[in-house]
Amino acid sequence: MSRNIICTGGSGRLGQFVSRRLAPKCNLTILDLNPPVDDDLQDIPFVKADICDLEQLRGAFKGQDAILHLAAIPNPRTAPADVTFQTNVQGAWSVLQAAEDAGVKRVVVASSDSVFGLSYNPPDWPPQFLPVDETHPVRPTEFYSLSKHVTETIAQSFAARGTIEVIVLRPVHVVFPPEYPELEERGSDPQNYHFWTFVAPEDVAQAFDLALDADYQGYEVFTISGANGLNVRPTLEMAAERWGTLPEVRNPKLYADNPLASVIDISKARERLGYEPQVTWQQMLGR
Ligand SMILES: NC(=O)c1ccc[n+]([C@@H]2O[C@H](COP(=O)([O-])OP(=O)(O)OC[C@H]3O[C@@H](n4cnc5c(N)ncnc54)[C@H](O)[C@@H]3O)[C@@H](O)[C@H]2O)c1
Repeated sequence: MSRNIICTGGSGRLGQFVSRRLAPKCNLTILDLNPPVDDDLQDIPFVKADICDLEQLRGAFKGQDAILHLAAIPNPRTAPADVTFQTNVQGAWSVLQAAEDAGVKRVVVASSDSVFGLSYNPPDWPPQFLPVDETHPVRPTEFYSLSKHVTETIAQSFAARGTIEVIVLRPVHVVFPPEYPELEERGSDPQNYHFWTFVAPEDVAQAFDLALDADYQGYEVFTISGANGLNVRPTLEMAAERWGTLPEVRNPKLYADNPLASVIDISKARERLGYEPQVTWQQMLGR
């Protein structure tokens, strides 16, 4: 029997890709403040609801098997700090609480690599080691990254109660078409504030899809990136230039085998989820 799944934020930039991928495989409902705009999403049932409204969510989540939680303010530039923190933190708590109340088995939560405190944070903070994986310390200093860190803590707390399984995905910067003209410049700039990372929305959708079926119980976190960075010069060369010194390289083989590999490690997602990025930035630019 086909599963019932709700995608919060399913009308958003990333949520559209997740919705497109999941709709043919399950009974998908989009829950968002705004209905989806694109024609191909018009047949997907839509629920207008605020993720901060627990009662609305409790009603919407009845009979659902899983929730994909993407609704949030997606960066520190879109809304004031208090609105962002309130939406992301209260929203995550309400989604998890309503899911638990409704007996939902699994929730997959969109966090962000910003929890590492590398992007949106002091530019002179190098990573403690490369590649940056799920064991790297989190140290957010601004409100968006902090809201995602708190979101993860909330998710972990719900999972620890034993009633709900939670997978947290930490995508790096997701690249959408309006940014295509800037990609090459970002890749050549040692000071690029996302340290050259990118991931295609199709690949983040792949990770959400795989997380729904991953064989595990409890709580897991996965970093999600493209296989390579945007950089055209070797990643370790760019990293040494950027931070004035090269952080400890814990997996030299990764960069020996592929000098352009991302600074974010996706080996856990590869091994545990079967994640394999399909879209390169060159393909995005039609090459
Ligand atoms: N875009 C990126 O580069 C990126 C990177 C890492 C993580 N993320 C995370 O992925 C998720 C989606 O990001 P996006 O880029 O698609 O953002 P987006 O702004 O395009 O989409 C967010 C969606 O959430 C909805 N929403 C906002 N507040 C809501 C509320 N109170 N109730 C119900 N719906 C609400 C919006 O209407 C929108 O459709 C976010 O959680 C974001 O933090 C994004």
